Formats: sequence, structure tokens, C-alpha cells
Amino acid sequence: MGEAGRGANYEATEGGLLELAEPGVVYTRLWAVELVLDLAGYSPDSNLVDSVAVEPSCGDGEFLEAMVRRLSASCERQGRPLRDCESSLLAFDLSSEAVEKSRGRVEAVLAACGWGEEESRHMAQRWVRRADFLLDPELDMASLGGGVDFVVGNPPYVRLEFADHPVMEMYRKRYETMAGRADLYVGFYERALSMLSPGGVCAFICADRWMLNQYGSRLRKLITSGGYSVEAVVEMHRADPFHSEVLAYPAITSIRRAEKQGRVLVAKVDLASQGILSELRGAARSIRLGESPGDDGTLSGGKHVVVDEWFSGSDPWPSASPERLKLLKKLEAEFPTLEDKATGTKVGIGVATGSDKVFLTKDASLVEKERLLPMAMAKDTMIGSLEWGGRIS
Ligand SMILES: C[S@@+](CC[C@H](N)C(=O)[O-])C[C@H]1O[C@@H](n2cnc3c(N)ncnc32)[C@H](O)[C@@H]1O
Repeated sequence: MGEAGRGANYEATEGGLLELAEPGVVYTRLWAVELVLDLAGYSPDSNLVDSVAVEPSCGDGEFLEAMVRRLSASCERQGRPLRDCESSLLAFDLSSEAVEKSRGRVEAVLAACGWGEEESRHMAQRWVRRADFLLDPELDMASLGGGVDFVVGNPPYVRLEFADHPVMEMYRKRYETMAGRADLYVGFYERALSMLSPGGVCAFICADRWMLNQYGSRLRKLITSGGYSVEAVVEMHRADPFHSEVLAYPAITSIRRAEKQGRVLVAKVDLASQGILSELRGAARSIRLGESPGDDGTLSGGKHVVVDEWFSGSDPWPSASPERLKLLKKLEAEFPTLEDKATGTKVGIGVATGSDKVFLTKDASLVEKERLLPMAMAKDTMIGSLEWGGRIS
């Protein structure tokens, strides 16, 4: 995770105010980068040359390197010249240092893949730009035509002390999901999702707090209100996917522009073993192809399940273990909720009678029968089925 905003100063550019982040950046490890690309389906077996992929905040180019390798392999496999890839890739960063490093890296990868020096340099210049992903007008849907097919990366976050920064205010005005104290990465999600072509996918490795907390509620609602399908959520709190330690709770999410929500791969990776990574690749591929993914998997270092439905509205996306989430989804699908009108049940944290000794009893003969309501307490539900203790109020 990176921190934009530290020691910030400003520069007027054509695109508006550019914040010169001094990026106290944390870059993504290669295995995590490859997993994000695999979950998104950014594969050399597909025609990546005629698709458009965006890396919104490329840093030193951890994602770019893997993307360029895959793009080059796809181009070569089709026997096409590198110049056909001019519009296949677009990467941004605010930091000119990061942009230079990324360009150098792209050039080196292309050269190592056997492309000529001059064309490699040309592509690196063309693909990697210094610009603000949240403000660059080139990324407005009107300029993009049909939209882009992939947005992949590790968006930046901003430390709490910069939450009231004027640039953050500017982003908030522009991105409706950046409510309250929403972090920068929420805006990255909104912009990335808005620029997807039909069937396009946004796959980020990012702090997962927005899935649960209040400031993520508008983003959750945007995603679940139609037009997108959450395809994969991979929790990696203990997996160490970055080159340095960070305090965030990282997860990979893969979200596709789609007419309706499909099946979802929910996984937890504690240790990145080849076994679990290839299981996740296989399950994600089946979901993408609309095939029935095999059994849920449990390997040392991780586990995954596939659920048929996702959450709705701005409901939190609980980070329960994959098995618990699967059970929750099954219960939701098969039973009405307790507060469903037909059951007439009310759920509360207490009855707030003011005097439980007077209002709670087990003696059904104390008052008129029609005045009594049966009441189950938390302890009546401990064994997995209701064992009513006979209390009435
Ligand atoms: C977490 S790093 C990610 C680097 C790379 N994608 C990776 O995973 O290794 C975040 C990067 O975002 C850049 N950044 C911050 N705000 C940005 C903005 N508004 N537009 C584009 N890049 C930005 C920072 O300069 C930093 O390099």
C-alpha cells in the first residue's frame, strides 16, 4: 500500500491540481501480482493485444512487469508486431520518479522478450504516463470509447491525518462513493469500475476495510445495485503480499461489469503455496467461463468456497471464514429471516422493560393469555437449534 499525500505540495497541470505524492510506497510481491492477474483473466492465452488494460498507480512497475510479459507473450503467440500493442496498456502514477522507473522496467522486459530497443522504448513512453488517475480527462468514458477491459493494480491509500487535505476534498466532490472519511482507494474503485467495458474487470489488491465499514457503504451499494458482479474476494491478512509490512488488511477483489451477479469465489490465503494459488486460478477460471467450479478447496495455507449469491444494497460484506460465509449464504437462501413479516418475530438486544423481574416470567397464568409474548433469549440458541427456556413477557 502506498501513501499519497505525505509532505504534499501542488502543481498546476492541464488536468487540474496534481498532488506530488512522496510515495512512502509499499509494492506488491510478484506472486500476489500474478494472482491478481490470474483472477482477472489477464492471460497470455487470450488476445491481450486487442484489449485495453489500465494500471492506475504503477509505482516502480511491479504489476506492469508481469502485465508486459503477458501482453508480449500474447502478441508473439498471435505472430503480430509489437506496434499492434500501442493501445493495449495504459499506466499512471503521480510520481515522476516512479514513472521513470516503470518506463525503464517496461523497456527492459520488452528487450528481454526479444523486441527491438527502439520499439521497446517507444512503447514504454507511450504506455506509462505521469498523471492523476482520479482526474485525468483521458480516462473519461467519453474519451475512452467503449471502455477498458482490465483495471488491475494496488491503489494508494492515504493516512488518516491527510483525510481533510484539500486534494482529498477535491476527489470527494468528484467521486460520490468517497463519503465521510472514505480513503483514496475508494475513489480508485469508483473510477476503475466506471471505465469498464461490458465484461471488463477491475481486480485490485487493497485494504479490505471498505467491505465492512461505514465509509465503504456507498461503494458496496454501487457494486451490488446492478451492472457488476463480484467474482472473487481473497482475504490475505496473514499472507504478506507486500514487500514491506503494512498495517492494512489486504484482500484481492475481482469485480466484473456484468448484467447480474454470478457465483463468487471466496478465499482466505495465509501462506502462498503453489497448491492454493493454482486451486484459486482454476476456480476463478471456471467462474469466468460459467462452468461449475469443482469442490470447495482446503489446502494447508488456504481455503476457498464458491457461493451462489452475494450481499445486497450497502450491507457489509463480512470477512467470515469461507466456510462460515458459505453456511450463511445457504441459510439466507433456504430460510426466511427471523424478522420476516410472516413470522412476526422481532430481534433486539434486550426487551428494555425497565424491570425484568416484573415483566418477564415463566408463569403463563399470571396475566391474560393474549397479553403474553413468548421470548427467546440468546442462551436458548446456543446449541444450533432453538431450545426455548419458556420465558414470556
Ligand atoms: C501502493 S503503490 C502501488 C504501486 C504498484 N501498483 C504496486 O503494486 O507495486 C501506490 C502508487 O500510487 C501512486 N499514486 C498516489 N496517488 C495517485 C493518483 N491520484 N494517481 C495516480 N497514482 C497515484 C503513488 O505514487 C504510488 O506509486
